[in-house]
Amino acid sequence: MSEPQTGTAPPPATDLPSPRQIAAALAERVVGQETAVREMSVALAKYLAGLPSGNILMIGASGTGKTTLMRAVEAYLASHPRLEARSTLVRMHANVLGEEAARGRPGEAVIGRLLDRAREQLGPETPVEELLDRACRGLVFIDEVDKIRSQIGDRPNVAGIRAQEALLTLIENESIPFELPDWAGDEAGGETVRVDSSQLLFVCAGAFEGLYDSVYDRVTIGRDRGALKTVTAFDDGEVREELDFQLRDWLAAEDLFDYGMSPQFLSRFEAVVLLEPLTVEELMHIFMDAPDSAYRTSRAYFETRGVRLALSPAAVRSIARAAKEQPRLGARALREVFRRVVRDYEFEPESTVQDGALVIDEAEVEKALGGGD
Ligand SMILES: Nc1ncnc2c1ncn2[C@@H]1O[C@H](COP(=O)(O)OP(=O)(O)OP(=O)(O)O)[C@@H](O)[C@H]1O
Ligand SMILES: [Mg+2]
Repeated sequence: MSEPQTGTAPPPATDLPSPRQIAAALAERVVGQETAVREMSVALAKYLAGLPSGNILMIGASGTGKTTLMRAVEAYLASHPRLEARSTLVRMHANVLGEEAARGRPGEAVIGRLLDRAREQLGPETPVEELLDRACRGLVFIDEVDKIRSQIGDRPNVAGIRAQEALLTLIENESIPFELPDWAGDEAGGETVRVDSSQLLFVCAGAFEGLYDSVYDRVTIGRDRGALKTVTAFDDGEVREELDFQLRDWLAAEDLFDYGMSPQFLSRFEAVVLLEPLTVEELMHIFMDAPDSAYRTSRAYFETRGVRLALSPAAVRSIARAAKEQPRLGARALREVFRRVVRDYEFEPESTVQDGALVIDEAEVEKALGGGD
């Protein structure tokens, strides 16, 4: 084990944030998804203490907050200067890794990016050894990791296979060959050094489109037919038999192998975390408060026209309900639904204004959404 160098030693244990504190900070940006936020917070608390921390794989339908959670961690670390020694983080698409792997430099791209990031943080005058030391203790967030599945339909996905292998060489590897970049100086630039990446924390995320259906099929009509039992539901005084299928109850490692993630790759993750479908209340919250929400953008636009946009709570609930009906889009459906509600008003902001305000109520929402297209 190599001793941490003084320049990058973690802050004293008592100064470190607790998982609860981290979770509270992340929850300012991530609505719901408590399980994922908790797992991430514990992993981060260990990581910040300089302890080994298992890698995390997040799985969740599109638009449920995977990238949002990654960004929240990024923002959290960036806004706490005392955590700086452990805040060297890169976020990249898994596809990029595949491309780099195809050029025959598996792993190097990730280390290279971490090194660049460390240089940004510590300044270009910092000796390359110190930068490397920092880079090797960084965080690597790989988004869209389902895009590097090993097969698509019946065809092998060569770029995906290569990218998974590239990641394998990076995770838990104490000796990765790495060619120092030219800026490392006349003597060091171009030299190949050995890098220990075993302290990196990896967080991967993907929507794994189709996984839900394939697991559902497995337990209803496929090899484990009959495993999913019906439950008796009472609905408005009526008794019905229903299948209560939750992916988290049934997802097994084999399902991810079948999906195209290799056993070796999966074995490098300590936790597989499933994100939940968003509830109507959570969608309402995201709609009103997410910094990039369509509502906020639209409200800002109306302000430039001297109009104050307001939605009644019932109108917001209607919009969230309509969005919920398109589960494959997650919170992204809010944008599409709201577009239909607001587009005519945006064209003529002044048309229905009373006392400088445009108030949209449930009736207007229903009218806009009921009208088709
Ligand atoms: N749990 C959440 N909390 C806050 N905002 C969310 C949440 N889920 C989704 N959003 C909003 O929806 C948008 C899409 O979410 P995000 O990018 O996190 O989805 P994703 O899970 O990464 O989906 P994909 O698999 O398609 O990449 C974000 O811009 C964000 O505003
Ligand atoms: Mg995403």
